[in-house]
Amino acid sequence: MSNLSTIPIFHRSELARNIANRTLSAKGLAGVFISAPRRTGKSTLINEDIVPYLRQQDVEVIYVDLWSDRSRDPGDLISEAIRDHLRQREGALLKWARRGGLDKVKLGGVELDIGKVGVGSGKTIAKALAELSDATGHMIVLVIDEAQHVLTSEAGASSLFALKAARDQLNGSAHHGFRLIATGSNRDKLSLLVQGKDQAFLNAVLMDLDPLGDDYLAWEMEQFDGDVRPSMDVVSRAFAVAGHKPETLRKALDDLAFKFGTTEETVDAVFQTIVDRIIAEAKQGFMRQLNSLPPVQASILTVMAKMGADFAPFRPQAAALYAAECKLLTNDAVKIDDSAIQYALEALRSKSLIWKSSRGVYAIEDLQHLLWLADDGVTASAL
Ligand SMILES: Nc1ncnc2c1ncn2[C@@H]1O[C@H](COP(=O)(O)OP(=O)(O)O)[C@@H](O)[C@H]1O
Ligand SMILES: [Mg+2]
Repeated sequence: MSNLSTIPIFHRSELARNIANRTLSAKGLAGVFISAPRRTGKSTLINEDIVPYLRQQDVEVIYVDLWSDRSRDPGDLISEAIRDHLRQREGALLKWARRGGLDKVKLGGVELDIGKVGVGSGKTIAKALAELSDATGHMIVLVIDEAQHVLTSEAGASSLFALKAARDQLNGSAHHGFRLIATGSNRDKLSLLVQGKDQAFLNAVLMDLDPLGDDYLAWEMEQFDGDVRPSMDVVSRAFAVAGHKPETLRKALDDLAFKFGTTEETVDAVFQTIVDRIIAEAKQGFMRQLNSLPPVQASILTVMAKMGADFAPFRPQAAALYAAECKLLTNDAVKIDDSAIQYALEALRSKSLIWKSSRGVYAIEDLQHLLWLADDGVTASAL
């Protein structure tokens, strides 16, 4: 995460240690899934605290962020991360191969083997990871950031089964263990990965990550270089209203530092106004985007927000609601048949407003959008 290197980090060492140790214990065998809303600090905690701690414990950590390139197939990203790690460990693998550990007859040399590792064949991943485990004598932890993305492609979904095969093999007594840590910005999507008996990581732990707390806020305030500081009480409430997003808080504090002439008496009110303005602007930006959508797309998005988990795009109940929403937006009668719905869903997906699993489950991409859409009267007043 190179963009983080210039931003000072508040370390959550104890939390990271607890999560890591739980993961390494037998309780983490089925996998550990961590959920928290977007931009609240998951990747930072993973990269700055959890991964370094695991490496200190001599764990082989392989990290992949499925949002690093949304145009790439998640299955490919996972295989590539594993291949890259194997290349880094080529020295250890070669040494081990020379000692006769590697199955040379079948694999024809380490180099070739690494190039072939992919999710297309579950055996290959399991085999490659088993070799890494044997060559290094270490436990392997694979961290998949924004793991719900695997469900958007068939290759991604099948990569989970490849990883399950690897997990089951590596946790056998002949090897040194394997754990999966997965994060996700949406609990419902993440739970699709651990619930349902056809899911590879059934019975994995699904935990909600606590938002950054008062200790973080105190640390952030230490760095505030404005003339007068707002009270912790107001800062803490503003952080909650901002959905516990450090970036929003920091922007508000930056703005406050430029409000010259603020006094002890006025600073809390000034800060509050700044935070309210930032949040209102974010909402306006989204509303503008909503207003510029074709009526069918805007209607579908609104209905999705209202129906929540009950949303089934092609059922008559949903169709009736689309029609009602559409009527509010346009005077002309709009024909909403299945192909119009299909087209609109695809358009919303390509604008990253909604998320679709390869099995046809739909969800609103950003929880904040969902809250704004579900606000009473959004359609009537804003459109
Ligand atoms: N512990 C932290 N200390 C300082 N800044 C943080 C911390 N956690 C998150 N941030 C800030 O919030 C932003 C979003 O965090 P990130 O970890 O990318 O969230 P997520 O992975 O949950 O979307 C980061 O770019 C960083 O600026
Ligand atoms: Mg992240």
